[in-house]
Amino acid sequence: MSNSDKKTSASQTNQAWGGRFNEPVDAFVARFTASVDFDQRLAQQDIQGSLAHANMLSQAGVLSEDELQLITTGLEEIAAEIEQGSFAWSVALEDVHMNIEAALTERIGIVGKKLHTGRSRNDQVATDIRLWLRDQIDELKPLFATLQSGLIELATAEADSIMPGFTHLQTAQPVTFGHHLLAWNEMLERDYGRLMDCRARLNQSPLGAAALAGTTYPIDRELTASQLGFDKPTENSLDSVSDRDFAIEFCAFASLLMTHLSRMSEELILWASAQFQFIDLPDRFCTGSSIMPQKKNPDVPELVRGKTGRVNGHLIALLTLMKSQPLAYNKDNQEDKEPLFDAVDTVSDCLRAFGDMVPAIKANRAAMAEAALRGFSTATDLADYLVGKGIAFRDSHEIVGKSVAYGIAENKDLSEMSLEELQQFSDQISDDVFEVLTLEGSVAARNHIGGTAPDQVRAAAERALQHVKSRN
Ligand code: ARG
Repeated sequence: MSNSDKKTSASQTNQAWGGRFNEPVDAFVARFTASVDFDQRLAQQDIQGSLAHANMLSQAGVLSEDELQLITTGLEEIAAEIEQGSFAWSVALEDVHMNIEAALTERIGIVGKKLHTGRSRNDQVATDIRLWLRDQIDELKPLFATLQSGLIELATAEADSIMPGFTHLQTAQPVTFGHHLLAWNEMLERDYGRLMDCRARLNQSPLGAAALAGTTYPIDRELTASQLGFDKPTENSLDSVSDRDFAIEFCAFASLLMTHLSRMSEELILWASAQFQFIDLPDRFCTGSSIMPQKKNPDVPELVRGKTGRVNGHLIALLTLMKSQPLAYNKDNQEDKEPLFDAVDTVSDCLRAFGDMVPAIKANRAAMAEAALRGFSTATDLADYLVGKGIAFRDSHEIVGKSVAYGIAENKDLSEMSLEELQQFSDQISDDVFEVLTLEGSVAARNHIGGTAPDQVRAAAERALQHVKSRN
């Protein structure tokens, strides 16, 4: 038997790389190494990249006008089929790239095989994920705008509502509910900034890096980069095919966003409880209990809080995937997709849920004010008042401490004590003290940028809203 007779025909192995193989790939290995079940999500970006590459090859004289025409039409037809859901994906063809290329060759014949000239799946996949993530980031932008403007509008409506502010979850000082909501907006604003940083850094084209070293064909990387809307081509071919920093960076952004949403969720859950009763969440964001008829469970914020775990997991998965990887491309990188896809889907759903829910939060102003009157939230105001009368802060702290101890024994808030009662602790106290002991007086006095005074909250909300509007 001649050597060539012993060789397995290319049709029994993968057409794209079967040439040097003597036996077909093991069926289990084929399934184990295939990524098409999940990377078909990159199909439209893969075709977009191929169209730009083919166009550039024809400008460079590597493909003829006719060949370009055939490839373009073929790819456009395949894109439409995929869009309609009628495209037949094959695990035997391993991944999205080879499925599409095989379909093209089946359609237009030998010319289809020319598309891969001067390109490798290594720069192809790196290009596809960047294009895909950029599209996804652009879809997250309006979700941020909706949530943030809803939050800011609620803050404006609640600029005068007073609630206890907490440190250590103990009543600390009165704050306005609007101020609390604007604190959330600041977290989201930083998250948005991180997302935009990620977009700016990922927007470079790896196409042309080929397998790892570049290609011998006269390619024009500037042309493909600009056709694909990238700012410029990446600088180094080895780095281009191996870099997944942008996916890690996205997951880092996503983890921080989820951390913030989980903090907001936690507060909403507490506030909606019978013990706080600060807010009411509309029924459509809650569910009941099959056994306890009185229950209205805040499922949406609970689920958002819970989903933080999976996104943190994706960040760690990608960091671990990249740790110690030698240059350049390694198959490990195929594992980048599922965590990234799920991180995108999860933050998108959570932003959407919050965007719907936040404007529908009903504040129970009476319960908030009532809670602020318990716990001696204006104790610092009394201490500051005594400082104003010439007493050293440490001494005034001591005087107020004694007043609070008296209040605990008598079950009275500071504002509920008579002037005579207060004067037991200092003869510097006169009847102007009640201006600072009321909740309204306390918050109004914190009248500077970043302070909780209602006028400051309204001004801060206005600035924040203008900022969000100016972003798009
Ligand atoms: N499916 C592969 C991935 O997602 C595409 C690149 C494969 N490259 C290779 N040299 N095997 O990473």
